[in-house]
Amino acid sequence: MNKEDKIIIGSDVFVPLITEKELNTRIREMGEQLSKDYAGKTPVFIGVLNGAFLFLADLIKNIYVDCEIDFFKLSSYGDEKISSGEVKLIKELNCDVNDRDIIIVEDIVDTGLSIRYIEELFSKYSPSSMKVVSLLLKRESLKYNVKIDYIGFEIPSRFVIGYGMDYSQKYRNLRSIYVLEE
Ligand code: IMP
Ligand code: MG
Repeated sequence: MNKEDKIIIGSDVFVPLITEKELNTRIREMGEQLSKDYAGKTPVFIGVLNGAFLFLADLIKNIYVDCEIDFFKLSSYGDEKISSGEVKLIKELNCDVNDRDIIIVEDIVDTGLSIRYIEELFSKYSPSSMKVVSLLLKRESLKYNVKIDYIGFEIPSRFVIGYGMDYSQKYRNLRSIYVLEE
């Protein structure tokens, strides 16, 4: 499926936006940067399920300091292409984040609502530090004033699929990222 240059879903046409090679190159750079910034520390990478699972997996292969991982799960989109404007916590963290250096790993920041929710969620803990890494940012869609510390790619405010990101739970397995053609 990854070799196709167009993906047609009903009346929607998705075209390539970021190739597997571009993803690999950028994720390697991000891993190197994080490894430098966290030298001497043991950060906990916390992936936001489901979307960030592939990115987190590839990112930590490029981390050269000791690290731990955990996940929690949020839901906001349902089966739609636009945010429902509501976030729910579906699976809590398992690790103790107090006095730890935590790095939240997101697939994509759109309105910023999920990140704002996460900031509030973590305000009840006392991590030593908290940073946010997102593979993608739709800067023009931001509605909340959130700080993303590490950004893989800034993309136009259009719906994307692949590399962990879904449309009605499908297409997460695509190796490249595809964007909805206008
Ligand atoms: P936000 O809360 O509006 O910033 O949206 C964040 C979450 O919505 C992301 O973590 C994704 O899971 C999902 N999302 C946002 N934009 C897209 C997209 O274009 N395709 C697939 N999922 C998306
Ligand atoms: Mg996500």
